[in-house]
Amino acid sequence: MTPGEFAESIRLEDGRNFVLRPLHPDDLEALRRAFLRLTPEEIEYRFFYRSRELPASVQAQVRGLDPTRDAAFVVDDAGEIRAVADLHMATADGRTAEFGLIVGKAISGHGIGKRLMLKLLDEAGRRGLAALQGSVRADNGRMLDLCRELGATISPDPDDAGVLCVRLAPAP
Ligand SMILES: CC(C)(COP(=O)(O)OP(=O)(O)OC[C@H]1O[C@@H](n2cnc3c(N)ncnc32)[C@H](O)[C@@H]1OP(=O)(O)O)[C@@H](O)C(=O)NCCC(=O)NCCS
Repeated sequence: MTPGEFAESIRLEDGRNFVLRPLHPDDLEALRRAFLRLTPEEIEYRFFYRSRELPASVQAQVRGLDPTRDAAFVVDDAGEIRAVADLHMATADGRTAEFGLIVGKAISGHGIGKRLMLKLLDEAGRRGLAALQGSVRADNGRMLDLCRELGATISPDPDDAGVLCVRLAPAP
C-alpha cells in the first residue's frame, strides 16, 4: 500500500475481512492471478469476449494508469485481488466516464458489487463528472438489478440488441 492512500475495510457477515484500496501498476501479477480464477461467464459479462488470460488492453491500462483519466479500486484479500471497479474518462469534455466492475464468485452476493459502484459514483462526484456509463449484456440480470437499485437509466444499445447502455449520475 502507498503511504497516505485510502484503505477501507470490508467485513462480511461470515467473518471474512478484505481491504478496499486503489489499484496500483504493480498489482499486475495479482490481477493476472485473479483473472485465472474467473469463470468464462464472468469474463464474458465483463469483457464481452472469451479470453484465457488478462486481456492485453487491460494490462496496458494498468501499466499506464493515468490518475487524471482513470480511477480503479480493488478488493484485496491478503494480496489476492477478488474484485475490481474502474472508471475511465470517456468524453473529450471530461463530463462522462465509462465504468467496469467485476466481483469474483468467491465474494459475490454480499453487497460488494454495490459498494464498489457507490465508490465509483463517489469518485465521479469528486471529479465533477455528470455521469458514469457502461455497457451491460441484456442477459446480465444481476448487474442490471444492481444498477436499477442505484437509480440507473437503462436504454437499448442502437448497435447491439444484446447489450444495454447503463447511465448513472453521482449524487449532487
Ligand atoms: C454483477 C456483479 C458485479 C455483482 O456483484 P455482487 O458483489 O454479487 O453484487 P451485490 O452483492 O452488491 O449484489 C448482488 C446481489 O446480492 C444481494 N446482496 C447484497 N448484499 C447481500 C448480503 N449481505 N448477503 C447476501 N446477498 C446480498 C443483492 O441484493 C443482489 O441480489 P440479487 O442477486 O437478487 O440482485 C458480479 O456478479 C460480477 O462481477 N459479474 C461478472 C462481471 C459483470 O457482470 N460485470 C458487470 C458488467 S461491467
